[in-house]
Amino acid sequence: MTIRFSPIATSATSARLSPACPTPRPADHTRRLRGMAALVAALLVGGPVLAADTTPADQLKRWTVEAGAPASVERGKVFFNSRHGGEWSCASCHNTPPTTEGKHPNTGKVIPPLAPSFNAKTFTDVAKADKWFRRNCNDVLKRECTAPEKADVLAYLINLK
Ligand code: HEC
Repeated sequence: MTIRFSPIATSATSARLSPACPTPRPADHTRRLRGMAALVAALLVGGPVLAADTTPADQLKRWTVEAGAPASVERGKVFFNSRHGGEWSCASCHNTPPTTEGKHPNTGKVIPPLAPSFNAKTFTDVAKADKWFRRNCNDVLKRECTAPEKADVLAYLINLK
């Protein structure tokens, strides 16, 4: 699916659709009203699941393609539980196995289970997964995770049942 790239397309489209002329012709107006009705309908139908723009399997495919090699559940498990020379491992906050609620060691914030079989929401939002991978990898490894590392971790997480 290409939906994950839609924010760029959408803003470009709406920029093109908004007329520079302050008094739109009636035809424009009708078209815009119709567009708005369609948008409202889409929101009503898809409202609660708007954030869900992907699946764990699609995310695994994405990173495996980027990595150019198959993911490894075993490597993902070792990666997830290693401290990589720092203070924390992924398991420090997400538990091991990450099938239960975790707790942030500093803030005490409750962290929902990371393995998709134990939490239907994980890896269903591209932006969220990307954001947390970036933040958490920086916390644990002092750098971003590579595509092969993300593919391995996700293969490990999906494998937990
Ligand atoms: C210091 C605590 C901490 C550490 C260490 C940590 N995480 Fe997280 N992680 C969080 C929090 C908090 C969230 C957000 C949970 C939420 O609100 O849904 C999160 C969310 C995530 C998500 C988003 C899942 C989704 O909903 O799509 C991924 C992916 C993730 N973490 C991977 C990792 C990996 C991989 C590591 C190890 C490199 C790691 N985390 C280490 C705290 C941590």
